[in-house]
Parts: sequence; structure tokens; C-alpha cells
Amino acid sequence: MKIAMFSTKDYDRRSFDRANDTHSLDHQIRYLEARLTPDTAPLAQDAAAVCAFVNDDLSRPTLEILAALDVELLVLRSAGFNHVDLTAAHELGLTVARVPAYSPHAVAEHTLALILSLNRHIHRAYNRVREGNFALEGLLGFDLHGKTVGIIGTGQIGLVFARQMAGLGCHILGYDPYPNDECTALGMEYVDLDELFARSRIISLHCPLTPDTHHLIDANAIARMQKGVMIINTSRGAMIDTRAVIDGLKSEKIGALGLDVYEEEADLFFEDLSDKVIQDDVFARLLTFPNVLITGHQGFFTTEALANIADTTLLNATAFETGTGTLHRVTLDG
Ligand code: NAI
Repeated sequence: MKIAMFSTKDYDRRSFDRANDTHSLDHQIRYLEARLTPDTAPLAQDAAAVCAFVNDDLSRPTLEILAALDVELLVLRSAGFNHVDLTAAHELGLTVARVPAYSPHAVAEHTLALILSLNRHIHRAYNRVREGNFALEGLLGFDLHGKTVGIIGTGQIGLVFARQMAGLGCHILGYDPYPNDECTALGMEYVDLDELFARSRIISLHCPLTPDTHHLIDANAIARMQKGVMIINTSRGAMIDTRAVIDGLKSEKIGALGLDVYEEEADLFFEDLSDKVIQDDVFARLLTFPNVLITGHQGFFTTEALANIADTTLLNATAFETGTGTLHRVTLDG
């Protein structure tokens, strides 16, 4: 199948070429560095499928151009599909497929890395020691053991993260409209959001971005949290109202913030902008806080996850083309 793959980096080429060879799939992949937008969509000319990543623009205008080019399949190399206008895709006859699970461990372990780094100020200690500054003032942490951790969204990643926190001796609270028996078996206490906000020393987001979860963490939610709370978001940026967390950091209501995602990340993440002036003043403000640690959407970025993403994406294309194997289709209901 001819596949036009947008937003590609060298690591994508390596993992997809390997998957194509390993499974003897013979897909013809056109690797494009450009992000998919209405302006770049014509680059999919001659392709039957388009492969997109998390910050590609899959709104109706883009999908209309792809459909006019006779693209039939949209293969997402991600689990999340909040960036796709599913109604438009359905109306235009475009099939959408995704990678439902590639490594919950990758994201859960990155979440843990953010928590441990923030709590023990590793990001600051690293720089201090390199400068010959061995003072400890400002590096005080707390024992995670015995603390209460609130997990919002207890699906695949939330479960792995819950196991890690239980292993550290934390008490775990969960909020999810569909409680997970494996979490309950770990000792997780399912509570409503208000109670989770009020009781948690650390709050971590692991649910999808939907209209319900958009700005789930806003000024009202922050007001209900403990003073000094640590908030971690490795899910999708728009679940946090960034201006509200900046206010919370300034008032010291929020004691630490760890982000792997940001609501306006599409113009920033995955690119080397070190020679450029950052134009996003809200993001620039976030970078000024000593107790904020931001990574550029790298939670998924492990060898195992990249291999699984490439395998499932190409096998989705094969399933669509031949009708054999599993097509991980995204329907209008999700
Ligand atoms: P999943 O589908 O296994 O679990 C999501 C859970 O969220 C489900 O149990 C669902 O019932 C729950 N949920 C739905 N609406 C909710 C609400 N309003 N409040 C609380 N919980 C709600 O998904 P998985 O694989 O655990 O991934 C979670 C999220 O992690 C993805 O949606 C994606 O946004 C993000 N992600 C981030 C990555 C990164 O690189 N930083 C990589 C992969 C996923």
C-alpha cells in the first residue's frame, strides 16, 4: 500500500523500515518531514493511506483535501485520537485506525521519572553540581512512601502507574467512570473527583482528552487541592488550563508541576528550536519556575514502544488492504 507518512523523524524511518522488512509487508512508505496541515495535505498525492502523529492537523479542511486525493485510510501512529475530526472522517468515507496499546510501561515510567525528579529536585541538582555548587538548600524532598497519589484515568497506563506507586508504598486513589478491577485489587480506593483533589499529595492524569476532560484541571479544581500539591500530566496538554496552573504556582498552592504535554505544543514540540525566540509567552512563563519540569512529549519514546507502534500501524494498513488480521479501527464512538 502507498502510505504518505507525515511528521517523520529519522527514528520513525528506522522503526518503520524495520517493521516493513520484518513482517515482509512491502508497503511503499513516503516519509515526509512536514506536519500534516491543509497546506501540506496535497503531499499525499497518489497515496492510499496517510500516517499521522499526535500534532498533525486532522480537522475537516485537511480531511476534505485527503478525501479528494482518494486517500482511503488514516493510520494514526498514536493511541490518542482527540486530534481527528471523526465525524468529518466518517462523512468523507475515510477509515481511521490507531495503535490502541504499544507500551503502557513507557508512559507510566516517564510519569514516575517526572515525579522522582521533581520531588528530589534532580533537574536543579544536576546543574548545581556541574557548577561546583554542592549546597542542599532548596533541594528538600519528601518520602513518597505513605503519601496519597490520585490517579485520574485508570486504564492501561493508569494501571501500570498505580502498580509502581503501590510498590513505593503510596496510598492510591482513583477516579474513572469505569473502575478497573486490577486497580481495586492493588488497593486503589475509587473516589469522586472532589475527594481525589482534596486528599492527594500527587495528582497524575491518565485519561483521554475529550470535551469532558478539557481543562479538567482549572482554577476551580486547583482551589480544591492541598497546598503544595504536585500535578503531573503525561496525557494530553489541554486537560490542564495552563494559565490557571501558572496562577496556582505563583500563589504556591501548586508545589510542583510535571508536564510531558502542553495545550499549545503543536508549534513547539518535536523540533529543535534552540536558535529561535519562543513566541508563546504562557509557555515561556512556565519555564521560569524552579518547580516546573517539562519534557517535550517523550513519554512514548522507548525502543519497545517505537517498535510496537511501527508494527501495529503497518499491520493496520495490511488489514485494511487485504481484509486479514486485526484492523484497530476508531469508530465515531471512539
Ligand atoms: P486507556 O483507554 O487504556 O485508559 C483511559 C482511561 O481513562 C479509561 O479507563 C477510561 O475509562 C478513563 N476515562 C475516560 N474518560 C474519563 C474521565 N472523564 N475521567 C477519568 N477517567 C476517564 O488509555 P491509556 O492507554 O491508558 O492512555 C491514556 C492517555 O495517555 C491517552 O488517552 C493519551 O492521551 C495519553 N498518552 C500519552 C503518551 C505520551 O507520550 N505522553 C503516549 C500514549 C498515551
